[in-house]
Amino acid sequence: MIPDETVERVRESADIVAVIGEYVELKRQGTDYRGPCPFHQGTHRNFSVSPKKAMYYCFVCHEGGDVFNFLTKRLGVDWPTAVKMVAEKSGIEVVETQSRRAEQKDERDPLWEINGVAAEYFRRMLWDDDLGRDARAYLEERGVSRQLAERIGLGFAPREIGLMRGYLTTLGFDEARMIAAGLVVAPDEGAEPRPRFRGRLMFPIYDVSNRIVGFGGRLLGPGEPKYLNSAESAIFSKGRLLYGLNWAKQAARRDERMLVVEGYFDVLRLIDAGVESVVAPMGTALTEEQAKLIRRYTDRVFLLYDSDKAGLKATFRSGDELLRQGAAVQVVTLPEGEDPDTFVRTHGARGLETQLASSIDVFERKIQILERGGWFADLRRKRQALDRLLPTLRATTDPLTRDLYLGHASAAAGVSREMLERELALAPRTRSVRPERAPAASGPERDAREQRGQPVPPPDVRRVRRGDRRRLSGERALGAERELVRVLLHRPSYFEQVVERVGADDFRDPELGRIFATMVALGADSGPEALAERLDQESVEVMQELLDEPGGLDHADETVSGSLALLHERQLAERMSEIDRELPLANSEEKDQLTREKMNLTAELRRLGGRSWKQFR
Ligand code: UTP
Ligand code: MN
Repeated sequence: MIPDETVERVRESADIVAVIGEYVELKRQGTDYRGPCPFHQGTHRNFSVSPKKAMYYCFVCHEGGDVFNFLTKRLGVDWPTAVKMVAEKSGIEVVETQSRRAEQKDERDPLWEINGVAAEYFRRMLWDDDLGRDARAYLEERGVSRQLAERIGLGFAPREIGLMRGYLTTLGFDEARMIAAGLVVAPDEGAEPRPRFRGRLMFPIYDVSNRIVGFGGRLLGPGEPKYLNSAESAIFSKGRLLYGLNWAKQAARRDERMLVVEGYFDVLRLIDAGVESVVAPMGTALTEEQAKLIRRYTDRVFLLYDSDKAGLKATFRSGDELLRQGAAVQVVTLPEGEDPDTFVRTHGARGLETQLASSIDVFERKIQILERGGWFADLRRKRQALDRLLPTLRATTDPLTRDLYLGHASAAAGVSREMLERELALAPRTRSVRPERAPAASGPERDAREQRGQPVPPPDVRRVRRGDRRRLSGERALGAERELVRVLLHRPSYFEQVVERVGADDFRDPELGRIFATMVALGADSGPEALAERLDQESVEVMQELLDEPGGLDHADETVSGSLALLHERQLAERMSEIDRELPLANSEEKDQLTREKMNLTAELRRLGGRSWKQFR
């Protein structure tokens, strides 16, 4: 608790015009000062500060109060902190006394509070410090005015190690809190604690209630990562937040729409152009929580992701989430190489509205892309194309929209509505798994980039094995893969015989597949060391395991021929499954052909010694 007399002393000594003047561009008008209101983002000078009364007031949104109220509302800090901040400016020392009653506070308060104060520190560094010079130049170069920057609370985190800590310490924040808020990285033993953000332009990230829950920091120059976000914490959870929602929520209701862009600068630029109904999920596709958040304010959403592969993937993933929440989703395709930031910078809000007007429905967009890629041209690809449309159809909860989509899909693919409805009723098909290599590093930023950088995987038509019998045979085939590679590692002389019959593609186990592919690349008797050099960690481990298992090699002949037979059978069985899935799509001519193929396969599988192909499906 701060004693009342101290509070009064701070209030009296405070220069309210100077304090508020740091956030609002004030001009003298008579005895008062006027400026645009920071609370309702006004552009006219309806916001008044009276030095005589030591109060401020907005004639439009009726927000008013004293200098402490201003700071608590503008920065989201609590009242004692506001008092301390003002006191610091006047050189008054504030000593808090023990509170008499334990206050009922949200346990996250201390973190919101320190973030608010840190934001203010970053802001000062940006505008009032020599250290902020490069950042100021950077903003100028990117066409960001001071007024705009102030409006969204931009700041700068200098490279210097101890500065922010010193400032926060003066204001009474301890290191534990700085660490808990993710502003400072917990130091190694004996070392000096370091700020998480260094040499970065700082975007405060607000929650819907205008509390600063974290930061996104952009490097001023090239380097990695380009953006660094606050670490996940009790108050910062990227997947549940939307950058810009604090500003967008009213506008979205008013405009009856929400624009979804990729990043900070896009939001900033659109707000500047007067398009305020805009949010960014900070570099990833929308999560379910984020889609729900948007849906609270509007049911019409425009997606403005990049049109590269990663952007398209994010578009459709976001689209499915939004459709699941019952929103109508439009996709905006900006000219090649443009993002909303660059586009609006050159074409303005009017240019953007034109783009919005020519946006197309997310499902139409998906069909369009499949059509342009020739995915409806032949049967096999048509099957794959449908497998990509079905999840979106399933995600669409609005019955009218779904009905419309069904019609479009059936027309585009040239299959009957009834067939699609039957497929829809089936349980969603799980993709047969072929795990990718585990990423070398993790962490939220890395994660974001990976999600963005990942190519859209080719549609996978392999059917997942259903049922125990099938799984058993599947496991036998996997065992065969393993045995084959084991034999080859110990007895390279079998290589010729094997490579004639199978390729790396025939392996379903990713590590075994990579080992085999590397053998093909390097030659049969290149030896384990040479292989290990070219292989990833997991594959090397698998290889080692196989090398440590030399037993049974006196039967290598039978092992090899048995394994080859099993793999061959699996291949045939997989094709059978594929045919079963293609048949419903086929026209009569294609049906004849598929049926003939199926008969041949059945015959061949029978010939292959007793085992029924059905085991594999
Ligand atoms: P972009 O790489 O598209 O950057 O990332 P941008 O928004 O166009 O940024 P500028 O214009 O180069 O400054 C889009 C968003 O992805 C997240 C950020 O939220 C960013 O705004 N991102 C990107 C990260 O979180 N980390 C990164 O390293 C890169
Ligand atoms: Mn950009």
